[in-house]
Amino acid sequence: MGTPKLMPFFILVIFHTMLSSGSGSNSDHIYPSGKGIRAAYFPSSNSFSPSSIDTQYFTHIYYAFLQPESTTYKLNVTEFDQARIPEFIKALRGKNPPVTTLLSMGGGGNNATVFALMVSTQATREVFINSTIQVARKYGFQGVDLDWEFPKDALEMSNLALLYKEWRKALDNEARVCGKPRLLLTSAVYYASKFTFYGGPRSYPAGAISKYLDWASPMCFDYHGSWENFTGMNAALDDSKSNISTRYGIGSWIEAGVPSKKLVMGLPLYGRTWTLKDSKVNGIGAPALGMGPGDGVLVYHQILHFNNRTNATVVYDTESASYYSYSGSSWVGYDGVRSAYMKVRFAKSLGLGGYFFWALGQDNEWAISKQASNAWKY
Ligand SMILES: *[C@@H]1O[C@H](CO)[C@@H](O)[C@H](O)[C@H]1NC(C)=O
Ligand SMILES: *[C@@H]1O[C@H](CO)[C@@H](O)[C@H](O)[C@H]1NC(C)=O
Ligand SMILES: *[C@@H]1O[C@H](CO)[C@@H](O)[C@H](O)[C@H]1NC(C)=O
Ligand SMILES: *[C@@H]1O[C@H](CO)[C@@H](O)[C@H](O)[C@H]1NC(C)=O
Ligand SMILES: *[C@@H]1O[C@H](CO)[C@@H](O)[C@H](O)[C@H]1NC(C)=O
Ligand SMILES: *[C@@H]1O[C@H](CO)[C@@H](O)[C@H](O)[C@H]1NC(C)=O
Ligand SMILES: *[C@@H]1O[C@H](CO)[C@@H](O)[C@H](O)[C@H]1NC(C)=O
Repeated sequence: MGTPKLMPFFILVIFHTMLSSGSGSNSDHIYPSGKGIRAAYFPSSNSFSPSSIDTQYFTHIYYAFLQPESTTYKLNVTEFDQARIPEFIKALRGKNPPVTTLLSMGGGGNNATVFALMVSTQATREVFINSTIQVARKYGFQGVDLDWEFPKDALEMSNLALLYKEWRKALDNEARVCGKPRLLLTSAVYYASKFTFYGGPRSYPAGAISKYLDWASPMCFDYHGSWENFTGMNAALDDSKSNISTRYGIGSWIEAGVPSKKLVMGLPLYGRTWTLKDSKVNGIGAPALGMGPGDGVLVYHQILHFNNRTNATVVYDTESASYYSYSGSSWVGYDGVRSAYMKVRFAKSLGLGGYFFWALGQDNEWAISKQASNAWKY
């Protein structure tokens, strides 16, 4: 996950594509509403103020992102973060209803090699783990999250399992020693439990995920984009022509053995754009020449503005539970309010732990956040 401005790097990376362990005393903290997880990532660099977050729609907010330093593997808390994190924590601490805050490491703009090196030895894992705990406690976070995009082979996946194991052990120990509730441990992961679309075949360590994480968050988006020469959906719920769909991805996690309660499904608040080859051929899968408006990415409120400004034709596609709109040679595929309703009902029907959004600041007057929250609760 990245801010739209980080997406070009992310696109290069994905070019070819495209709670039994929670201690009793912690369970109120994990489920403040007793009703599951309604989370969202807060990209630290966006102009959106943390004080404007309407917490009635969320239970958990992630600060995104910090990076480990490339030689020490300690977190690099930049001067920017030293000011932004306290602003974030202070703004959310005063909110009613309250939300749980987590510190997330990695993201779409991460250097995957640094994570690969960090997980490769016990000593470097320990430095990283200790640093995440130290920084999370210093600023008053209630959890830590890893969004490594992405482990590239089976060895990195098995090292990732060791990281999860040692991290959880360190969090349990630290909570005992300091007498505070344990920090939550979560991880954003690829939409499917196995990688079959780019890089070598590899699988996430489902056993370690089930045992050591409070939950894993499959990123059910970035399925298609302007790196391809045809239009497609960013986050299709279903796709009869391929396995690049949320139903397939979530199903693969359940099949791998991760309890559905430990899966928190990703939902995008942004869409992807193309320039059509022929403005008269404008359906899903239409030939395209590359990026459309917004250099290939528009966030939801920008899409509504685009639709209105250009008097675009808007179509809801039932199979993907997504919208697309077009005007002239510009084409946008995106999730709208109805998409959120359909996907959240899907998540509930499978007994998932909840859902999360990438990202805060992209919705339009909370319309999608509100629909998702209502669909989850009722
Ligand atoms: C920490 O991040 C800042 C900003 O990206 C960078 O300038 C600095 O070199 C980094 N420090 C280390 C030790 O990696
Ligand atoms: C990522 O980190 C590795 C290891 O420190 C370094 O060699 C490489 O140059 C970095 N890549 C980028 C894009 O910064
Ligand atoms: C990490 O923290 C543990 C617990 O406080 C401590 O025993 C250990 O020495 C620390 N390790 C490093 C490398 O800082
Ligand atoms: C799209 O790209 C593929 C290869 O990536 C190529 O085989 C195909 O002809 C291209 N289609 C169009 C319409 O340009
Ligand atoms: C989808 O995945 C299943 C099993 O994971 C596989 O058998 C099938 O060939 C895949 N279908 C496509 C279209 O890739
Ligand atoms: C759409 O644009 C018109 C003027 O071009 C404006 O009056 C209207 O408020 C806009 N609607 C929305 C939903 O932005
Ligand atoms: C907007 O598009 C519709 C058909 O899609 C058309 O009937 C209408 O005249 C258009 N309005 C403007 C202001 O271009």
